Amino acid sequence: MGILQLLTRKKAAVVQKDRPVPKHIAIILDGNGRWASKRGLPRTAGHAAGSENFRRIATYCKNIGVDYLTIYAFSTENWKRSQEEVSAIMGLLKQYLFEALDEMEKDHIRLRFFGDLSRLAPELQELAQKTLETSKKYDGFQTNVCLNYGGRDEIVRAARAFAQKCVAGECTPESLNEQVFSSYLDSAGIPDPELIIRPSGELRVSNFLLWQSAYSEYYFTNVLWPDFTEEELEKAIASFNRRNRRFGGV
Ligand code: FPP
Repeated sequence: MGILQLLTRKKAAVVQKDRPVPKHIAIILDGNGRWASKRGLPRTAGHAAGSENFRRIATYCKNIGVDYLTIYAFSTENWKRSQEEVSAIMGLLKQYLFEALDEMEKDHIRLRFFGDLSRLAPELQELAQKTLETSKKYDGFQTNVCLNYGGRDEIVRAARAFAQKCVAGECTPESLNEQVFSSYLDSAGIPDPELIIRPSGELRVSNFLLWQSAYSEYYFTNVLWPDFTEEELEKAIASFNRRNRRFGGV
């Protein structure tokens, strides 16, 4: 382990002493467009600011000992936006994946993707594949990027994959239970998020992690995503820590 990693781990341990930290946090990156409009800027400037903020928050999550950060970067519905906006978001993602490849070698972070990547440009698919391959070497902090993702679409794809196996004689409908079904989802092997954050004042789930959020705690705030600072994240964690999670018990 490098000296930098040792220092990072030490920092995480110190911060964790003060309060427990959710192992898996998920965030809907919402409010970029409004952030830009408020400043008389094009929506694409809001996405650029949102993607910068994602880097800050991901680094912070890593440093305080979060294991998984899942972000809703592009939904199955977001294709309805203008060509200009879609290309700007794809450009930002490409830039991030290039940077992530470097960061992986340095910090041993990992990337996973939730969503149907087959609709993405071949260049982006290749880059995603490369980051997945590199991630296999490491076991550090993991970011799950939801790309062309929809919770219903994920469940349908999982159901189809299971049905295909049954048709091929590799399993039977009776063998299906919650645990088996989870293993067909994009999130296979990853614990469910304990805390889901939605900034920008919207009080909707918007097709995000429908299966995985069964017992997640939600945190809503009016702050727009590009303005969502480390302090805002601490407020969300503090709110989470004040709650009594009963998982259906008493
Ligand atoms: C929602 O805000 C945001 C999106 C649909 C795109 C999010 C994408 C990025 C931040 C860029 C790429 C991400 C990474 C990880 C590099 P909105 O546009 O719906 O905001 P509004 O509701 O204010 O219009």
